[in-house]
Amino acid sequence: MAKSRVVYVCQDCGSEQTKWAGQCPDCGAWNTLSQFVEAGAARGLGGARRGGYAGAVAELQTLDQIDLAEVPRFSTGYSEFDRVLGGGVVPGSVNLVGGQPGAGKSTLLLQVMCALSQQMETLYVTGEESLQQVALRAHRLGLPTDKLKMLAETSVESILATAAKLAPRVMVIDSVQVVHCEDVPSAPGGVAQVRESAAQFTRFAKAGGAAMFLVGHVTKDGTLAGPKVLEHIIDCSIMLEDEGDSRFRSLRAGKNRFGAVNELGVFAMTDRGMREVRNPSAIFLSRGADISPGSVVMVVWEGTRPLLVEIQALVDESMGSNPRRVAVGVDQNRLSMLLAVLHRHGGLQLGDQDVFANVVGGIKVAETSADLALLLAIVSSYRDRSIDAGLVSFGEVGLSGEIRPVPSGGERLLEAAKHGFRRAIVPAANVPRKPVEGMDVVGVSSLAQALDAL
Ligand code: TYD
Ligand code: MG
Repeated sequence: MAKSRVVYVCQDCGSEQTKWAGQCPDCGAWNTLSQFVEAGAARGLGGARRGGYAGAVAELQTLDQIDLAEVPRFSTGYSEFDRVLGGGVVPGSVNLVGGQPGAGKSTLLLQVMCALSQQMETLYVTGEESLQQVALRAHRLGLPTDKLKMLAETSVESILATAAKLAPRVMVIDSVQVVHCEDVPSAPGGVAQVRESAAQFTRFAKAGGAAMFLVGHVTKDGTLAGPKVLEHIIDCSIMLEDEGDSRFRSLRAGKNRFGAVNELGVFAMTDRGMREVRNPSAIFLSRGADISPGSVVMVVWEGTRPLLVEIQALVDESMGSNPRRVAVGVDQNRLSMLLAVLHRHGGLQLGDQDVFANVVGGIKVAETSADLALLLAIVSSYRDRSIDAGLVSFGEVGLSGEIRPVPSGGERLLEAAKHGFRRAIVPAANVPRKPVEGMDVVGVSSLAQALDAL
């Protein structure tokens, strides 16, 4: 029998070390290495090193010989959820659903599972809540409760034995942090337990074709506690994020072997459970009739669709010697960079002003297409003049004050026109050849031109 091997795994970055150390040599975190005993089977090239290759010779195929049958998928019943998964649930896939406690992971999955249970065999394993709690919630939400099989169990061996007998097509483990494998000595929730449990669930999913949803809690700073080490095992990692205090929740794919990443689905937590929001632009745009200075609507690209969001800036005389630069929802460094560009190429000196920038609705914008709208918002706030409510903007701003095009300009403009915007200030290269109906599109190629157009 192969010897088992002891490794030390960092709880933060998941790297493996052969020796214990106080500080992880890879990510530099302190006191994060913990012991992990790896079973010896199938490890290394022991046989090869001894000269003979003992295994059977497998048959090889070139890519074009592989059957390209469409990945069969089924719908969760929620188009926003399907979209994030890449178009529905793939049988045999392992999906990690992460989020802070209270985000609504259990509620959403319970709703999905109750609906799916009407068409196929389903199993919901709850390790955190009692069966009564789950039943009470399902009852209160008015979900169909007669077909979904429930199991309150935390032993992985027992869960899989039960599942093997039932052969469900979809299965939820709520959560992966409370289950434990008998042959792993450490406590549930630790790296070793989480990793081994997930590996066993994955093996089960791949062998039997059951789609698996593993619930994982994340810590305050947004990283998956422990399950960071899972990312290479699972097929799809989706996060359910709270948008601050609001009742809106966004579902986002961080990794997806079957679809696009950064796809966004929007839900609202209501007293009747999670409701999907089919037209998110409408909620992020709930502006009143009078628009105050410093507010501009921009079109950002989320996964495979455009989204209209309001960006606000507040420029105010600074009281301290160090003016403040606060960015919420956009990158702080980008804000500083834009202020420098505004100074050099727009002639606007904001060195003695505090500047605050905020993306409304708690959305986080990672793309550079927000640059131009942010600049316009800053100028609007500084001059204390509101921007026309019917105006949208997007575009990247370069260091020499040039306005650069962004991908999918045409679709962004169409989305804005659909929501009744009549004017757009966009990069010159993004102006479509065919005019957009009902919209006056102004193409600009430099900061000066943009400020003129305003
Ligand atoms: P839950 O699904 O238990 O969160 P998670 O599994 O991610 O920890 O959601 C719990 C929160 O949602 C809780 O704070 C109450 C709220 N909630 C509602 O507002 N309406 C509802 O219909 C339900 C079921 C929960
Ligand atoms: Mg829960």
